[in-house]
Amino acid sequence: MGELSAASSSAPAGSPVPRHVAIVMDGNGRWARKRFMPRVYGHKVGMETVVKIIDHCQHRGIEYLTLYAFSSENWKRPEEEVSGLMNLVLVGVSRYLAGLARKGVRIRVVGDRSKVSPKVREAWNLAEVQTADNPGLTLTVAFNYGGRWDIAQACQSAMRAGLTADEITEEQLGRHMAMSHAPDPDLFIRTGGEVRISNFLLWQLAYAELLFTDCLWPDFDEAELDKAVTEFARRDRRFGGVKTQTSSDAAA
Ligand code: FPP
Repeated sequence: MGELSAASSSAPAGSPVPRHVAIVMDGNGRWARKRFMPRVYGHKVGMETVVKIIDHCQHRGIEYLTLYAFSSENWKRPEEEVSGLMNLVLVGVSRYLAGLARKGVRIRVVGDRSKVSPKVREAWNLAEVQTADNPGLTLTVAFNYGGRWDIAQACQSAMRAGLTADEITEEQLGRHMAMSHAPDPDLFIRTGGEVRISNFLLWQLAYAELLFTDCLWPDFDEAELDKAVTEFARRDRRFGGVKTQTSSDAAA
């Protein structure tokens, strides 16, 4: 599997842009190791990539961006790395929240907040409250998130709301999922060369276009996102139905 080819970088005008992009930001540790630096340094630089990509999503007219920042399984990492990632949330919120708010970004955080420290919880709450009414890009950060956790918590939440077994339909359950504030992702990107979903939005990715690139997350930039969007525009989305008319069919 190679990098997205450079030849694919120009999309015809009027090509579809994904409304919702979801990203597994993998490769920070390897990027840092290549430079003889600690893994946490890779995450720090990865945070700068996040800011760049948020701006570019806004520029491209993408409405929803969802980032996998900390999975339910990431607690198994060395204590130094876990605390480095937690600290990065505090640094990130204090450094970038005002700027993101100014740009109209609305921040949402999904995941099990009961397990994170009060300081981190407060930082996420602040980010959500201060941006709740913003009209721009919805940035969702998946933090202490797992797709299986989400499905289980949605069932629990539906039952607590009084739904009976027969009433728990796909539509009803969808309303209780952590991502109920957003449409399902159209495009899933995983950087870092691994080809798996790793317990990310299991329910919501049902019909997403999946795209994997060897590019390590700190190296991911505007041009890489443009290539991914161009590749998305080439895909023929059928949602289990028959072939839809493409723009080139229409022109013919
Ligand atoms: C996976 O790379 C990346 C993570 C577990 C953390 C991602 C976090 C950031 C990019 C920082 C931004 C944070 C927020 C709060 C938005 P890896 O460590 O598994 O890399 P490797 O596969 O090379 O080891």
